[in-house]
Amino acid sequence: MGKVIVVFVGPAGSGKSTLVAAYAKWLREGDASVYTVNLDPAAETLPYEPSLDVRSIVDAREVARKYGLGPNGALVKSMELVTERLEEITSKIAAAEADYVLVDTPGQMEVFLFRDLSWRLAEALRGISPESYAVFVLDASVIRDPADYAFLVTMATAVQLRLGLETAPVLNKIDLVPDVEITGDLLRDFGRVSRALREAGSVYAEMLREMLRVLLKYNRRVEVPRVSALKGEGIEELHRLVLEMSCSCGDLS
Ligand code: GTP
Repeated sequence: MGKVIVVFVGPAGSGKSTLVAAYAKWLREGDASVYTVNLDPAAETLPYEPSLDVRSIVDAREVARKYGLGPNGALVKSMELVTERLEEITSKIAAAEADYVLVDTPGQMEVFLFRDLSWRLAEALRGISPESYAVFVLDASVIRDPADYAFLVTMATAVQLRLGLETAPVLNKIDLVPDVEITGDLLRDFGRVSRALREAGSVYAEMLREMLRVLLKYNRRVEVPRVSALKGEGIEELHRLVLEMSCSCGDLS
């Protein structure tokens, strides 16, 4: 088996870095070799020691100083600079002798996703290993109602379209909302979401319901792992999900 590459994408603060740390620890405890990549040039501190740290190539603070930019401008400029040096990064990933490569993406998801870096990286990773996937990290503590959940799962599909990598949602920070009504079973959860949206009766609710129906029709997996990256809980479920994606590798049916 070649290496399995997992890219962690998600809104700022959803727990990408903490999940990379927890998953790397879990994999290593099972004797797997893991190569971790920090792709966030603006990361302050990380809960893991990256094998490859983009800050050694582009540091957003230095970029801010050099170009006289504010935090957002510096991040955008940093993304451009990282894109220019992408080959340097991907050749290190290609050379890494590891069973798993975990890629932690920038906190400001939109700055990453809506720029060339995201699809170029995904393209390069697919070239390195056909077993390249993405995990879309959702923050369970920001889900207020069924429509929120539907919105977030739909976003995971949008990420998949953008990256061209099979992308699965993962529900993190479950420790903060032990009574969250989401079971992690998409069929069951979408049934509930669908009913709630029908009751809400707006045209948007109807639209979302249709979208969910289509998503479910084409979704091979119905399990959404519920994890706590901070407490290291549910990591085996995340791993099972990665293995499942890996099993369907090359299956385009
Ligand atoms: P940025 O890249 O900086 O946007 O953040 P991120 O998505 O990498 O999130 P990060 O891992 O930095 O976590 C953000 C905050 O959420 C930190 O204070 C973490 O300790 C906390 N956090 C992450 N995962 C969990 C979790 O499972 N439970 C709880 N309670 N807190 C968590």
